[in-house]
Amino acid sequence: MGQVVEVNHPLIQHKLTIIRDEKVGTKDFRALVDELAMLLTYEASRDLPLEKVQVKTPIQETTKKQLAGKKLAVVPILRAGLGMVDGILQLIPAAKVGHIGMYRDEKTLEPVEYFIKLPEDIDQREVLLVDPMLATGGSAKDAISALKKRGAEQIKLITLVSSPEGIQAVTSAHPDVDVYTASIDEGLNEDGYIVPGLGDAGDRLFGTH
Ligand code: PRP
Ligand code: URA
Repeated sequence: MGQVVEVNHPLIQHKLTIIRDEKVGTKDFRALVDELAMLLTYEASRDLPLEKVQVKTPIQETTKKQLAGKKLAVVPILRAGLGMVDGILQLIPAAKVGHIGMYRDEKTLEPVEYFIKLPEDIDQREVLLVDPMLATGGSAKDAISALKKRGAEQIKLITLVSSPEGIQAVTSAHPDVDVYTASIDEGLNEDGYIVPGLGDAGDRLFGTH
């Protein structure tokens, strides 16, 4: 059974509050999304397997632990997920990166898939699926299905802001997926935006409207 983790570390809460502010411009928004992605990944990577290794310090030889070399893939949902990739790669530089292109139809709020390119060995990798916003959950649900269709078995979803509706949609469709988020907000408004949220993450990241 997957778990839902609202990561309420003070640094995460502080940085998230800053980017909620409508006055924060693209440059700061981008930098903080990257930092938040890195901090959330720190939490989401807590269960990575370790192995024992011998290391010789300048003082003596000792047995310590290092990552067991589990293969990882970071998969952003385009566009807004792209804003989280660099921050995650700073922590996990050897991860491969796949892309899932999806946008929400503004009227129906249904996700429309337009691009998928994943590492060939995605079936052997743990996947960190990333998107700043989990609103109705439609995009994340379909992205997870697309990953599973290609053989991915271990998937974690990392988001900055989630709605209770989005969490419910993802966890009921994909109970095996863990969700890490910086905040579970109040809900959705009639346009499908998260309340209070931070607005349109893609537009704020890329300076579009
Ligand atoms: C946003 C966001 C998610 C999706 C969330 O993308 O980045 O992918 O909406 O909504 P949902 O949970 O209701 O599916 P958007 O469609 O605005 O595309 P963009 O990232 O290209 O701006
Ligand atoms: N997509 C966003 O970027 N923001 C929302 O609040 C909902 C969907």
